[in-house]
Amino acid sequence: MTATTLKGKVALVTGGTRGIGLETVRGLAELGATVIIGARDASAGAEAAASLKDKGYDAHSVKIDVNVAEDHEAVYRYIQQQFNKLDILINNAGILLDQDDISREVVNRSSTIPSDILRNTFDTNFFAPIALTQTLLPLIRQSDAGRIVNVSSILGSLALQANPASPVYGIKTFAYNASKTAINAFTVHLAAELRDTPIKVNSVHPGWVRTRLGGHAADMNEAEGAKTSIYAATLPEDGPTGAFLYGENTLPW
Ligand SMILES: NC(=O)c1ccc[n+]([C@@H]2O[C@H](COP(=O)([O-])OP(=O)(O)OC[C@H]3O[C@@H](n4cnc5c(N)ncnc54)[C@H](OP(=O)(O)O)[C@@H]3O)[C@@H](O)[C@H]2O)c1
Repeated sequence: MTATTLKGKVALVTGGTRGIGLETVRGLAELGATVIIGARDASAGAEAAASLKDKGYDAHSVKIDVNVAEDHEAVYRYIQQQFNKLDILINNAGILLDQDDISREVVNRSSTIPSDILRNTFDTNFFAPIALTQTLLPLIRQSDAGRIVNVSSILGSLALQANPASPVYGIKTFAYNASKTAINAFTVHLAAELRDTPIKVNSVHPGWVRTRLGGHAADMNEAEGAKTSIYAATLPEDGPTGAFLYGENTLPW
């Protein structure tokens, strides 16, 4: 791809100030997109955007805590006023509350997990991206090739979680995994609803990535972890929709 591939495209990445989100922003900017960093901390967003602007990229930031409905409305108004369309929405913000450090041995607490952990996890990983997507969909419909990317996880694959021979069978972080299974259901259902439009909706697994969430023992760096999100954001017209992507391959639901 050339640096002008995404010229004229407007992209929003939630949780865009660090981790996989920041590298996704950087990768889209390098491809020529106008990038909007969705930042829970407005000053961290402004700082990240300024650092990208210094390198010559068209970077902006907007304050969004994905759990705050007013922020969704404010983001809608901002994008409508500034760009009047949204080509790429990457629902990247996510949390893992089941245990502090995923690099340590994972304890299966499915029988005892407190309901507040389940609810808080679902608020951020499931309800928030759905509500944000619904709010921004009118702007995505203004794009001639809208791309919605739900950042999921291989840990949400029921096919793999149910298979004792699978490499993720031992990683039963129940609240997190279930929230990613649920967002995968949204991907499948929304992609079907939008199948006669130019909008593609896919889930992605970034890989196991060294971030605050992924832990120190992970095998990929953040830039490598951003690659599947960028791939799903830049799919051509004949690319997949309603798929669960890891790199250019698909994962089982
Ligand atoms: N790392 C991995 O190995 C891995 C594997 C599979 C899937 N994933 C997924 O990849 C995505 C990015 O994770 P990461 O590894 O880059 O994690 P990370 O470094 O911990 O970053 C998480 C990002 O989400 C943001 N965030 C959390 N709650 C938010 C909220 N309520 N509103 C707005 N932003 C919020 C954080 O913002 P603050 O800076 O404000 O906290 C941060 O920018 C997540 O959806 C995660 O589930 C990661």
